[in-house]
Amino acid sequence: MSGINYSEKIPNNVNLTTDRTLQRALEHWQPHFLEWWKGMGPTDFQGADVYLRTATSVDADGWATYGTVKMPDYRWGIFLADPQKDRTIGFGDSMGQPVWQQVPGEYRSTLRRLIVTQGDTEPASVEQQRLLGHTCPSLYDLRNLFQVNVEEGRHLWAMVYLLHAYFGRDGREEAEELLARHSGDADKPRILTTFNEPISDWLSFYCFTYFTDRDGKYQLKSLAESGFDPLSRTCRFMLTEEAHHMFVGETGIGRVVKRTLEVMKALGSDDPAKIRAAGAVDLPLLQKYLNFWCSSSLDLFGNEISSNSAANFANGLKGRPDESTYEDHVLRDKTFQLKTPQGDQAVPMLNALNEVMRESYLKDCEIGLKRWNRQIERAGHAFRLTLPATNFRRSIGAWMGLPVGPDGKMIAKEEYDKNLYHWIPSPEDKAFVHSLMKRVAEPGKMAGWVAPPERGINNLPVEYEYVKLH
Ligand SMILES: [Fe+2]
Ligand SMILES: [Fe+2]
Repeated sequence: MSGINYSEKIPNNVNLTTDRTLQRALEHWQPHFLEWWKGMGPTDFQGADVYLRTATSVDADGWATYGTVKMPDYRWGIFLADPQKDRTIGFGDSMGQPVWQQVPGEYRSTLRRLIVTQGDTEPASVEQQRLLGHTCPSLYDLRNLFQVNVEEGRHLWAMVYLLHAYFGRDGREEAEELLARHSGDADKPRILTTFNEPISDWLSFYCFTYFTDRDGKYQLKSLAESGFDPLSRTCRFMLTEEAHHMFVGETGIGRVVKRTLEVMKALGSDDPAKIRAAGAVDLPLLQKYLNFWCSSSLDLFGNEISSNSAANFANGLKGRPDESTYEDHVLRDKTFQLKTPQGDQAVPMLNALNEVMRESYLKDCEIGLKRWNRQIERAGHAFRLTLPATNFRRSIGAWMGLPVGPDGKMIAKEEYDKNLYHWIPSPEDKAFVHSLMKRVAEPGKMAGWVAPPERGINNLPVEYEYVKLH
């Protein structure tokens, strides 16, 4: 089951040839996908030879093979993790019953919505990142960007397969719509706000892969628990790809910190003006980028109190990330202490699941912070990077639009407005970061604002020519 068939037009491990109707429908969608990729993907790099990994099987180990590919020739396809024998629903009111191999009629529109919302983020991020190649800090980074891009393209395939295979004509229409909406488009934007924010510099790219791809990880983890088995298996395999995206973010930010510390040492100063003059990112500036992307990504978890997420859980459609690590999987008589602007409130646990997810996500975000702060501490500096409070700069839920600082304290509106650009990047900060974004495309060379990585890809040296631009 886990072997992937590459001899077919659409690589897959789902025996696509046994379902001619489905195969034809997907083969009809395939050229539309390619048109989208060529029009909205990294358009100026379609002819470049890129050292990419491709999935060859869905086994936990050794699933990837590496080779040089032109991106439009990448073998996008349909890969599901192997089925688990006798799998049962692991949470909610139908806990313990066999998982569904078909969509239960009563959950059809909800499941379709969940799949479309997840699917929409995948091509959105490719669109957001489409011009970054022009300002890559190194060929190593350029390759990582393209790896992320082709895999987000594959994640779109993953969701489109589910739509085509299980949702009939509605599903096929949704699959077309996934190519018709575009990030930041005034008339047809992507569904979620964060995926309409432009990513025009590499500091934002590292933050996006650290914070926003991690939101993706948590969404995929909760869908991997789903009682709808094909969705669960699809998401389980996507998670193996997603891990690399967060690696790019975590090591990217770590390399920025490392370089900044080197510059601070050489200058004998932590004066941001001097550090900027030396062409590096001062740590308070990095903190602003963290504040922006963390708070923006926190919105993706939705309202603190949500009857939708309660129903999705009770009905076995979407669980908590790592559901098996919890004791109670039904949650009918549990409550949650929610922090609201009116004070602490006890709410039914089922209605607070978005908040539960947000909390576990933040714990995961802390891991990188600890690592970066250790670097700073070892260099002898008192400065520490932090995550903003969860109620800072929210545009959804109970704290929406309220003047709350990154420390979580409510302040006067004027004070908030006056200080906002001390907390998130100001237009001048962004202009400075943009001024650093100059393409470095010689093998082994690195831009001055970021340190080289510890090691290259797949045991190759850092100096390897990961992208041949021609
Ligand atoms: Fe993805
Ligand atoms: Fe991703």
